[in-house]
Amino acid sequence: MKKVTTLFINLFILSCFINGQSLISNVYNRNILSLNGKWNYIIDPYESGFYDYRYMAFDAENNADPNYGGFYIDRKPNDKSDRVEYSFDASPTLMVPGDWNSQDDKLLYYEGTIWYRRKFDYSKSTNLNRVFVYFAAANYETHVYLNGKKLGIHIGGFTPFNFEITNLLREKDNFLIVKVDNKRKREAVPTLNTDWWNYGGITRDVMLIEVPVTFVKHFAVQLKKGTKDVISGSIVLDGPPLETKCSIEIPELNILKNIDQLKNFEFQVKGIKYWSPENPKLYDVIIHYGESTVKDRIGFRTIETKGNQIIFNGNPIFLRGICIHEENPMRKGRAYSTEDAKLLLGWARELNCNFVRLAHYPHNENMIRMADEMGILVWEENPLYWTIMWENKETLENAKKQMSEIITRDINRASVIIWSMANETPVSTTRDTFLIEMAKLTRQMDNTRLISAAMEKQAKKGEPLTQVVEDPFAEYTDVVSFNEYVGWYDGLPEKCNMVKWEIHYNKPVIVSEFGGGALAGFHDDKLTRWSEEYQEDLYIQSIKMLRNIPQLSGMTPWLLVDFRSPKRMLPGIQDGYNRKGLYGTTGDKKKAFFILKSYYDEIEKNK
Ligand code: GCU
Repeated sequence: MKKVTTLFINLFILSCFINGQSLISNVYNRNILSLNGKWNYIIDPYESGFYDYRYMAFDAENNADPNYGGFYIDRKPNDKSDRVEYSFDASPTLMVPGDWNSQDDKLLYYEGTIWYRRKFDYSKSTNLNRVFVYFAAANYETHVYLNGKKLGIHIGGFTPFNFEITNLLREKDNFLIVKVDNKRKREAVPTLNTDWWNYGGITRDVMLIEVPVTFVKHFAVQLKKGTKDVISGSIVLDGPPLETKCSIEIPELNILKNIDQLKNFEFQVKGIKYWSPENPKLYDVIIHYGESTVKDRIGFRTIETKGNQIIFNGNPIFLRGICIHEENPMRKGRAYSTEDAKLLLGWARELNCNFVRLAHYPHNENMIRMADEMGILVWEENPLYWTIMWENKETLENAKKQMSEIITRDINRASVIIWSMANETPVSTTRDTFLIEMAKLTRQMDNTRLISAAMEKQAKKGEPLTQVVEDPFAEYTDVVSFNEYVGWYDGLPEKCNMVKWEIHYNKPVIVSEFGGGALAGFHDDKLTRWSEEYQEDLYIQSIKMLRNIPQLSGMTPWLLVDFRSPKRMLPGIQDGYNRKGLYGTTGDKKKAFFILKSYYDEIEKNK
């Protein structure tokens, strides 16, 4: 490898810092040190750790008394007379990853700032290497400091981010300070009002990543759109460009090809075993760059639409789905691990699902990688939920950044077939303009997957029993999806027999939500709200009503498991949970589970 001077490297690293950091992908297959575990924390509802405590207007990073500073310098008293009014050493700990709400009853409803601190030693394997700190997610606004210096800020609660720490890292006694603020904001994504718990904190994995001075930060490899035997891709380098060889290797397909590091590549391949729910075949794909390699396990498959059908690997497919929130019902908090993914996708598999709608925000990478392994197709969604501040430029930039982060993270995941732009967003010109922008960005970054959104519908003028699915945004999507609650929010289950659907699009249709609540174990007649029998009858009537929609190509009823929501406080029934799950929070199946499963069994048998 050509010798690269240290000065040049430092200049390059500095330029990265000034220009902001971009995302490293495929992190679990890299040279990483996990920082998961117990972190000390200080709760800080008044932002005392950020502002000089005497003048709220002052910002500790710019105007503080140099002897005070913010929590991010982790100051210790110089002697017994010195006044320091905080101490991470003496503070309690939280587990990382993990939301704070489910770790301590005092934090169940907390919305504000918590400061975390993690101390660590680190010795680089070779001196020229570079080191980044990577967060798989933290909700919602995160400020990160290392050894008293600010690394940067990330906004968004469900997407990864990283900062370079090469020049700040020392062998001993590093201290990483992370300020996480989960206060909801009108201009945020999502906005103030959601039907899910506002879990705050460092909710997913944290790790150090050591890389060569110039490394493959990201690579995308998949079947070229419209082909079954052309693999195309690109790599993104970070670091001073080297005059070195770059190649892609797929051993099982006898592929070893040199590629131009700065250009997109494509080549024909024979004998691919396509990834599918029946056979989720993954290949080792290795990118060689100089002496370094980065490897991923990638499945190859095609997804497209033809008229009102979804075509998967060349054949029409019906998506037997279910909606899932990112919650482990046993731990009663945010899901984040491979075990959590196995639990939730295992329950979906028991329902005989081949598809999951990961609502209403990007779930953790372990969930997507588990779907790849298990052969479960995935709908990923960004949190443009309900009444977003469509006219706010910063909100659009925020949404686009979150979308680009999740596409970068998951571009190589065969299981992901649909990018959803939004959920139940009232139609307006500003909303349409905003969503069209989002769809444009998504197609620019990834033209191989389908675009949808849970769109709007309304009763036909003069015919209250005719529901018309009509949404200006449907013109820009590949799949028309909508949520409906006839029999729950709209009449009783018997109303399903009277409702007609008008959907004037020659596009595949997914019913992205239907269902109703039931308290697991509560039994009564089918007209008694909240009984399992009511929910069971609602599923029977809903399926009978929906299965006759000519373009119906899939459904994702709402939803797999009861989940926490501050909007659901009916004592003795909800107690802070939305009860529309087919599983209760102790993993018990409700009667409606078996109705949906028998419908999916029938679909699978007759496919
Ligand atoms: C809406 C929304 C969900 C919500 C559900 C409900 O359709 O998309 O997020 O939880 O209805 O009311 O239970």
